[in-house]
Amino acid sequence: MILSSIVILTGAGISKESGLDTFRDKNGIWAKVDHRELATPEGFEHDPARVHAFYNQRRRQLRDVQPNAAHHALARLEGAYKGALLLVTQNVDDLHESAGSRKLIHMHGELNAGLCGACGQRCRWKSDMSTHSQCPSCRTVGRMRPDIVWFGEMPYQMDRIYRALGQAELFIAIGTSGNVYPAAQFVEEAAHAGARTVEINLDASENTSHFDEVIRGPATQAVPDFVERLLGA
Ligand code: APR
Repeated sequence: MILSSIVILTGAGISKESGLDTFRDKNGIWAKVDHRELATPEGFEHDPARVHAFYNQRRRQLRDVQPNAAHHALARLEGAYKGALLLVTQNVDDLHESAGSRKLIHMHGELNAGLCGACGQRCRWKSDMSTHSQCPSCRTVGRMRPDIVWFGEMPYQMDRIYRALGQAELFIAIGTSGNVYPAAQFVEEAAHAGARTVEINLDASENTSHFDEVIRGPATQAVPDFVERLLGA
């Protein structure tokens, strides 16, 4: 089967077997803390030190985890696939790029990046951030925030994502619960453009019914199998 264009959407489930928590599973991140306090502009305004501590802990955790077989399979697909391929991740970890993926959009931002509230510049940021951190561009102290797209904020590169969805012949969603928009709408955008849609997930997601094909199982088994199927086709 020769496909011209593939769009892949990943969520926290693809990184679970690398040791990073998901958000909405029973012992997920939002089961332990209130997302309104730690993942909104209002929460940051109210208690920036607490929000910095939350993201510093998650950024430090990246040093101790590795990409898993699912991340590596997607990087292999990108390298071997002759058509257009775009990987859109909701994840803010760096496991896709560590596995070798390059045609990648972090629509919800990245833990290893900072954003200056004074000049608007984004930058790479690998160490702890605090209310005393200085912007490397404008040198302002105290206005740095994690470069994470919080609830109520516009995700990154949406024009590029919608253009790719409009041309997709295959859309694959991996490890996402379909709870958060606009990502949860991508399957309908792709289907509207005539794409075949596939969900690879451990459990049923909120929008499972929108997919042509549903593959149930852990990402480290289901994703490499699917990639081999695709490359062998
Ligand atoms: N393999 C495949 N899927 C898995 C695995 C696994 N090993 N473990 C869990 N899953 C599935 C769960 O069944 C669930 O459907 O991954 C999904 C994770 O869902 P969420 O925790 O809601 O994560 P996600 O969909 O990425 O959340 C989207 O919400 O909080 C915001 O910005 C945050 O990017 C995040 C967005």
